[in-house]
Amino acid sequence: MKISKKIIIAIDGHSSCGKSTLAKDLAKKLEYTFVDSGAMYRAVTLHAIRNNFIQNGRVDEEKLEKAISEIEIQFESINGIQHIFLNNKDITDEIRLPNVSNNVSIVAKLKHVRKKLVQQQRKMGCYGGIIMDGRDIGTVVFPNAELKLFVTASTEVRTERRFKELRANGIEITREEVKNNLIERDHIDSTREISPLMQAKDAIILDNSELTRLQQLELAIDLVNKRTKDFN
Ligand code: DC
Repeated sequence: MKISKKIIIAIDGHSSCGKSTLAKDLAKKLEYTFVDSGAMYRAVTLHAIRNNFIQNGRVDEEKLEKAISEIEIQFESINGIQHIFLNNKDITDEIRLPNVSNNVSIVAKLKHVRKKLVQQQRKMGCYGGIIMDGRDIGTVVFPNAELKLFVTASTEVRTERRFKELRANGIEITREEVKNNLIERDHIDSTREISPLMQAKDAIILDNSELTRLQQLELAIDLVNKRTKDFN
């Protein structure tokens, strides 16, 4: 496999469709940098929860906006696993807890939050060689990305995957709760005013409902090879 120019790969899709898994696998194979942009929205949400800016499903936008400059997010790879830090504290596990998942969409809707995070995301991609996954990567963050993938899978498959992942991490949750959270987040993410989840016109759809992790990776590698040929 010969891949010379390091391109930008944007991966978007619904909640728990396997975007991050694909992005991580591809990044390892291609020796690219992987950025989970959803983790950044989760980090801001965690900060808002810790500071009581979220009460009964509502965000105190003014307080969060004032505090946003205090939020510093960093990624670091530790033993091959990407960790995320909020103001120098490792929050990798905490951002996956249900209280963060249940509130992240209402934080990700906010204009000032998106503005700050999109700026940081663009900086990370300025030298290419990056794979970023999220909801607006191909449409807003990197509209000129050389390769855009829109990953999808059926709601049942996505529910089962997330349910197993949460249970494996010792989190007590029912399938029903997982499914409801996915459906609700997808709805908020797709219908919000700013940067809604949308398939970019030039994105390639990758439905992985019936694919193994390896089959999905191989398919994506083929697409990368085709695209990089065009750019070399
Ligand atoms: O990928 P994830 O489920 O960890 O993302 C968490 C939330 O963040 C998701 O509900 C939508 C939001 N998000 C976003 O609005 N834009 C992105 N680029 C990435 C995530």
